Amino acid sequence: MRIGIIGAGSIGRAVTRLAIAVGHDVMISNSRGPDTLSKIPQCIGAKIGTVQEASDFSGIILIAIPLRQYASIPAELLRDKIVMDANNYYPDRDGPIPALDERRATTSGLLAKHLPNSRIVKVFNAILASDLEKGGQRLPSGNRRALPIAGNDDAAKESVATLVRQFGFDVLDAGSLTESWRFERAKPAYCIPFDREGLRQALAEAQRDIDMPEGSWRR
Ligand SMILES: NC(=O)c1ccc[n+]([C@@H]2O[C@H](COP(=O)([O-])OP(=O)(O)OC[C@H]3O[C@@H](n4cnc5c(N)ncnc54)[C@H](OP(=O)(O)O)[C@@H]3O)[C@@H](O)[C@H]2O)c1
Repeated sequence: MRIGIIGAGSIGRAVTRLAIAVGHDVMISNSRGPDTLSKIPQCIGAKIGTVQEASDFSGIILIAIPLRQYASIPAELLRDKIVMDANNYYPDRDGPIPALDERRATTSGLLAKHLPNSRIVKVFNAILASDLEKGGQRLPSGNRRALPIAGNDDAAKESVATLVRQFGFDVLDAGSLTESWRFERAKPAYCIPFDREGLRQALAEAQRDIDMPEGSWRR
């Protein structure tokens, strides 16, 4: 399968490495252009391109950029495509976004509004890039770590779930995009290794108005 990546930082590179390791063909991009990514092909074997080239490269695209930049994503290029949304809201980094601060929206909901014709799946946001890099690992329970996904398009979710399983993780479908707040930053499922059962519980325990202490997920 071909995969296009928008955002060549920690998470974009982690997904790129894993996807290449399981035999996919990947093109990675950033906003400053391929010249600034010249070391990537040697390092991880990906093709490099512009955002437009990475978008054209595949029907499945990862967006892994600072959330505040989401409106720069070219909506028309991503029409009908499966868009994997790994973004999180960090107010200190992204600046205040009132709809998120007031819990009137989700991070994926904002992206979906900007990309109304794309098939958005929230995924890879609730795991540290350094943990993702390791691939799926057994937990002390003996089960594999599970990653949550959410989206409104079942076929898109299934394609993404297949990829997550190829990376060695179990998958838990948390429901539609409106439910994706359950594994946003500072919720109990955020960046904590859980197997499917533990993740199911953490998602169920999440409360819309209550956040975990900042940084408690960084061990
Ligand atoms: N790091 C983690 O452990 C982790 C885990 C899960 C989710 N996330 C989330 O994933 C997103 C990316 O995080 P990261 O840690 O990978 O960030 P990062 O290391 O800072 O990398 C961000 C990448 O996005 C590119 N970029 C910035 N603006 C862009 C734009 N408008 N169009 C295209 N590319 C753009 C940057 O390159 P240029 O500036 O050159 O364009 C850079 O390659 C964030 O929302 C973060 O919260 C991070």
